[in-house]
Amino acid sequence: MSLSCEKEFSKNALSYDKYNIIQKEVAKKVVSLVENAPKKILDLGCGSGEIYKLINWSIEEFTAVDISCEMCKLHPRNPNISVINANYEDDNLFERLKQKKFDIVISSSSLQWCSNLDSMAKKISKLSEKCVISLFCDGTFKTIYQQSNLEPFLPSQKEALKIFKKYFEIEYSIEKYKLFFKDNISKFRYIKKSGVSGGKKRLGYKETKELIKNYPHDYLEFEVLYVKGKQN
Ligand SMILES: C[S@@+](CC[C@H](N)C(=O)[O-])C[C@H]1O[C@@H](n2cnc3c(N)ncnc32)[C@H](O)[C@@H]1O
Repeated sequence: MSLSCEKEFSKNALSYDKYNIIQKEVAKKVVSLVENAPKKILDLGCGSGEIYKLINWSIEEFTAVDISCEMCKLHPRNPNISVINANYEDDNLFERLKQKKFDIVISSSSLQWCSNLDSMAKKISKLSEKCVISLFCDGTFKTIYQQSNLEPFLPSQKEALKIFKKYFEIEYSIEKYKLFFKDNISKFRYIKKSGVSGGKKRLGYKETKELIKNYPHDYLEFEVLYVKGKQN
């Protein structure tokens, strides 16, 4: 299945959930793709618990992993939640997680930062027979890349799909989002604060200034790949 659609968020929406409005929308879609109310869930790159907070069925065990200690502190706690402050690419963590059996692995707005997406997808396939994943792809900030001649650092949707198809039977969709701003400075502040760029700084001061001056749209572009994977 392949589907492409475009959603727009108005700048007014920004006033309430300023820096993670797209991630929140993406998390909602991710949870809507989860079928059959799985009881044992692993969430990779859990952040402050967006996925957990959206789950509206009863679960037995929720394991949440995040590399950021600050994020882990913000994650909801209760006796059936284990929050693990670790790098999900770490082999020791993988060995530890392999001891458990998960009904599904979920990851929302995070795996675009993997240093090796192939090895991560392989690990996921060994931790569960099912996954629902969303990740930002190279259509994100497309105009910025075109304007500045930078190579996108986010994975291409084609490459990411090829990888997940190696380990799962997949259904997928790609969504494009536009987020509107009142001026260019706010756009670049958003890029810095939203976490979408993974903290990577590729432009110098002068280039950034040029870009801010000449960026042609009143919105930023985002492209998100959603993958629902199943093993036979
Ligand atoms: C954009 S946030 C998304 C959080 C949450 N999944 C959501 O949908 O709101 C991405 C999260 O991935 C985490 N992250 C990035 N790389 C990671 C890694 N290698 N291991 C574990 N967590 C990672 C970040 O710390 C951050 O909390």
